[in-house]
Amino acid sequence: MSAPAPRTAEPYTDADLAGFGLRRDRLPVHVAAIMDGNGRWAVDQGRPRHEGHAAGAETADRIVEECAKLGIEQLTLYCFSRENWKRPAAEFQFLMSLLKRYAVEQRPNVTRHDLRFETIGRRDGLPADVMAEVDRTIELAKENRGMRLCLALDYGSRDEIARAARRIADEVAAGGLSPNDVTEDAVAARLDTAGWPDPDLVLRTAGEYRVSNFLLWQISYAELYVSDKPWPAFGVTDLRNALRAFASRDRRFGGLNDPPPPETVDDAGINDGAGDDGAKA
Ligand code: IPE
Ligand code: IPE
Ligand code: MG
Repeated sequence: MSAPAPRTAEPYTDADLAGFGLRRDRLPVHVAAIMDGNGRWAVDQGRPRHEGHAAGAETADRIVEECAKLGIEQLTLYCFSRENWKRPAAEFQFLMSLLKRYAVEQRPNVTRHDLRFETIGRRDGLPADVMAEVDRTIELAKENRGMRLCLALDYGSRDEIARAARRIADEVAAGGLSPNDVTEDAVAARLDTAGWPDPDLVLRTAGEYRVSNFLLWQISYAELYVSDKPWPAFGVTDLRNALRAFASRDRRFGGLNDPPPPETVDDAGINDGAGDDGAKA
């Protein structure tokens, strides 16, 4: 195996982006990833599922670094869903120990890339020692101004919406809010993601075409991109492929747009000059 490339906080230049077939003004502001297929990746190699989760954490590291260098403003990673409580206790324990280690080991990256570190989801059910390390990293990053790295932990979108609805009901009952004030903005302001941009691009790996209770409110107009690769095998080249596909999408938000310039889009809707060969790094 060749030695890993040196890690650097240096952001990509426009020329670097052009070399990847990307343009800064066509990048998503917020990327949200459903990191699926860890278990299958491991089992396919005759290894236990938990090794897939460990490899998945390494992928997360690489994707975080790449998004930071690309100048993405927010990356939200779906780490543990409300429904994942159905997993065997040993798998849950492994995921929690991995999360604890990740929160600690991310600290140099958080500093190097000036990352903000946040979470969404319920905070009451996860082990206190794990959340303490997560909170220490959040605290360390609170003055940072770079990419927001958001971990969805014990997160379920329906749960989040129900919690927001309860808050609204409480405020109405207490007289602080009138039913007429319950607008889309008022709901959004009571979600865990209050104040953040909605995802522009949702990535899902392992070839699954579903959203699994992830950010249902916030992804109303997100572009969806499914990769067949399981998350541990998903690399920066795959991310760049997804970003090129995103750049070629015609986002209309219910309205009508001018057609995209013909010289930048080929028949498959992929920007030319970029290729889809997965070989560029
Ligand atoms: C995603 O990988 C990680 C979590 C859901 C925690 P999976 O564990 O779902 O892997 P597969 O889908 O079973 O392969
Ligand atoms: C979605 O993956 C949740 C996370 C990636 C944390 P799952 O593996 O739990 O989703 P389903 O069960 O296949 O829908
Ligand atoms: Mg899965």
